[in-house]
Amino acid sequence: MPGSKTKITEQVTAKAGTMYNDYRFGDFNYGSARERLDPGFFEFISMVKNDKKVFDIGCGSGYWLNVCVREGIPKENITGVDLAPSNVEELGKKGFKAVCSNVLKLDLNDDVSDFTICNGVIHHTNDPFKAFGELVRITKPGGYIYLNVYNIWNPYFYLVHRAMFPLRFLYWNVSKKIIDFVYPLAGIFFQPLAYLAMGRFLDERTGKAFFMDQVITPRAHLFSKSMIESYAKRKNCIVEKFAYNRYFLMLGAIIKVES
Ligand SMILES: C[S@@+](CC[C@H](N)C(=O)[O-])C[C@H]1O[C@@H](n2cnc3c(N)ncnc32)[C@H](O)[C@@H]1O
Repeated sequence: MPGSKTKITEQVTAKAGTMYNDYRFGDFNYGSARERLDPGFFEFISMVKNDKKVFDIGCGSGYWLNVCVREGIPKENITGVDLAPSNVEELGKKGFKAVCSNVLKLDLNDDVSDFTICNGVIHHTNDPFKAFGELVRITKPGGYIYLNVYNIWNPYFYLVHRAMFPLRFLYWNVSKKIIDFVYPLAGIFFQPLAYLAMGRFLDERTGKAFFMDQVITPRAHLFSKSMIESYAKRKNCIVEKFAYNRYFLMLGAIIKVES
């Protein structure tokens, strides 16, 4: 019989799978502004040489997979992995190798990846350290991981996630229709911020995907540099570089898996 942590972890995974399947995260109407906001990612993929294998774990609708191709990484060397079947199906139609799998128990062999991307994913699981262990397991010794996670020092998450607990509770336990009422009201606050940050208002699809990702998500763990360093040390890895992304919302790290 599964223990209570295992049970909660399974519930969180199931909720995330349903949510991201319905509200697909990745390609948004503010377009390439995403790239400007994630300089750490470009530093990471500039390290990829042509014959190297790249895996994007929790790739969403594949925004970063397309960037990899545009930056010269051959499509056949790239694999996208996501929990949401809708993302995997769409990526398959676009000619990407795509696998539906859970970052907590990846359906991939050891040492398959040279460069592993995991952008905005492990903080949504119930066990981020286990997820990190899976990233290390699939990455070859001497390979690299790009980890991008919520930054503990940004007050944003205390306001939009922690303080919104009652709304989240109602959504998951009472009725999912609550979003239809709350989302237009929330727009009064977040649309001006989006305009300031991204130079345009968000269309409904983009806005809702963000709203679900940041407010309704069952888990939003927050990370400091020392927490990432501790994860790395426990898994025999070295953090080579940190970078704050998306206006200090995210903490990115380039991590080397030791030989
Ligand atoms: C915030 S989105 C990030 C998507 C993409 N990395 C990006 O930056 O555009 C989080 C993604 O992680 C995926 N995800 C969440 N929990 C997961 C899990 N346990 N295993 C695999 N993927 C997961 C979701 O389906 C979703 O597509």
